[in-house]
Amino acid sequence: AQWVVMKQWQRDPSSDDDPLGDGSHVGIDDLRILREQFVDFMLGYKFAIDEVTTKINILREDFNNTHEYNPIEHVGSRLKSPESVLEKVRRKNYAMNLAAIRENVLDIAGVRVVCSFISDIGTIRDMLAGQEDITVLEERDYITHRKPNGYQSMHLIVSIPVFRSDRTELIPVEIQIRTIAMDFWASLEHKIYYKYRGEVPPNLRTDLAQAAEVATQLDEQMEALHRQVDRGVQPKPK
Ligand code: GTP
Ligand code: MG
Repeated sequence: AQWVVMKQWQRDPSSDDDPLGDGSHVGIDDLRILREQFVDFMLGYKFAIDEVTTKINILREDFNNTHEYNPIEHVGSRLKSPESVLEKVRRKNYAMNLAAIRENVLDIAGVRVVCSFISDIGTIRDMLAGQEDITVLEERDYITHRKPNGYQSMHLIVSIPVFRSDRTELIPVEIQIRTIAMDFWASLEHKIYYKYRGEVPPNLRTDLAQAAEVATQLDEQMEALHRQVDRGVQPKPK
């Protein structure tokens, strides 16, 4: 399968290298160059994850210091594997070259921010989107408009500059911001979805939708409690 992918590889119009030319012949040197180019390409996404993760850690520490309150529970990240990148390119029928992959596959770098409360999601979103070197390319608010299965999360696709040794690259990063309850739900749904290879039985689908509803109720109750404490409801005098 890997071989077929390689043969489909097209000339990158923005590059002087043409390892495959018209794609009719693949030599061992061509493959080596191709592999090096791809590794270098993927490294840019790893650096972009490092940049975004640092930004979020700075926000966490600074917010904690200034407001004596931490809106971020945890931060995670993942780099799409080369196999899944190529799989997505084929599935979506994108052109098989690095420029086209950069333009079309926007979730190679993924960062997930898990917040304590619903209101923290907007706070973190605004703090990231407002930064000078961040450009928001796309925004999907699955909290105001949750998915039919119950999925809730705030999704941003941002573009961020990465300063390489010999050039600057603008790299897209998918940032998912959600509460602990939304994250808990999504990880279970993900497992179920994979177990049933996308064909989740109707009774499980109903249960999942109900669980999403309960998660929302919990989030709303926690938010209300948090506000009460914030407003400084005094403990009863002894
Ligand atoms: P892809 O092209 O497949 O990446 O999806 P998309 O472009 O429609 O983007 P979308 O915002 O819907 O989903 C992007 C990511 O959000 C996924 O890769 C998952 O990590 C997460 N996600 C979206 N929908 C669901 C869902 O129903 N359940 C779970 N568990 N995760 C989801
Ligand atoms: Mg995706």
